[in-house]
Amino acid sequence: MGVLLKKIIFENCRTKIESICLMTTTDSLNIQIEKTSHSSIHKVDFDQLPFGKYFGDHMFSALFRNEAWSDFRILPFGPISMHPSMAALHYGQSIFEGMKAYRADNGDILLFRPWENARRLNRSAERLCMATIPEEYFMDALSTLIDIDREWVSGREGHSLYIRPFMFASEAILGVRPAQEYTFMIFTSPVGNYYNSPVKLMLETHYSRATKGGTGTAKAAGNYAAALYPAKLGQLKGYSQQLWTDSSTHQFIEESGTMNIFFVMNGKLITPSLESDTILSGITRDSIIQVARHWRVPVEERAISVDELDDAIQSGALTDMFGAGTAATIAHVELVNIRGVDRVLPDIKTRQLSNDIARFLSDIRTGKADDIFEWTYRLPR
Ligand code: COI
Repeated sequence: MGVLLKKIIFENCRTKIESICLMTTTDSLNIQIEKTSHSSIHKVDFDQLPFGKYFGDHMFSALFRNEAWSDFRILPFGPISMHPSMAALHYGQSIFEGMKAYRADNGDILLFRPWENARRLNRSAERLCMATIPEEYFMDALSTLIDIDREWVSGREGHSLYIRPFMFASEAILGVRPAQEYTFMIFTSPVGNYYNSPVKLMLETHYSRATKGGTGTAKAAGNYAAALYPAKLGQLKGYSQQLWTDSSTHQFIEESGTMNIFFVMNGKLITPSLESDTILSGITRDSIIQVARHWRVPVEERAISVDELDDAIQSGALTDMFGAGTAATIAHVELVNIRGVDRVLPDIKTRQLSNDIARFLSDIRTGKADDIFEWTYRLPR
């Protein structure tokens, strides 16, 4: 899709959601709010904030039943009850999103491109035959929850509030068919860096994360389950993550761990295209591409073979390689094991483009840079 067309769709979507957001209130969605009397924020060690160790005080929950969403609730964060034959547990109708809230210097809370998460959740839902959720419900639930847990958004350098919207088939059935009842929830977790150091990747040429015609483009829980075993084998050998290749030939690079992957070769920013249906359409991926194009860096979304990568590393044409995702933001790749040989990549300090993009995106997310792309949603005070 052309950049212009994408921009028009993006603009329309943003305008629609923002205007609805201004009009909708807790009353319009009729969210029942039960606040905790015991905040656990004092238990959080903000000096040591690993990814996903702590959880915000509240969570949002809604139920899809009889073809409509209802039971909108915000309640204290905690365990949920489920029927043992709940369909998500058996047949895997379970999808999720990852997004982050940031604290600006003036104390405002900023969400980064949240309407894109709403849209992607619905694309995943369609692929897995699940209920979709109106984008304005998503935004209203999100804003109300984050507003209640505002103090959980730390303003420290490198910190954010990770937000996990997810939906699962909560109908108790045993026959294999799309469920008719779904639960949509959102909870939060204050986080620091996902990776504390540059990642070491192992090229995967046996197992696959996604197959053609499969669910690779959806943010389906099962995709992550399928990646655990190969990732564990790689980790036993000392690698942080797999560098995934296509499942038919294992000749072309697709993703890295739970991230999209980028290369800088001969001054061009290159990333696998989304044409095959095996690659997640990352919001960070799209943001990086838009920033690079804005800076007039040549960008290529295309197939990249393992041979091309190996040659580029050896000839010095490759000057940068990094993974991109919401959790990890930009994760520098330190080395790649290609067919049994560890190829060490250029010093991270010399990698101008990824360092510049990482800084710029961080500045936009925290309101330090002008939001020229209109990506941030400022939570009403
Ligand atoms: C994210 O970047 O939000 C992801 O989905 C990765 C997550 C599985 C930790």
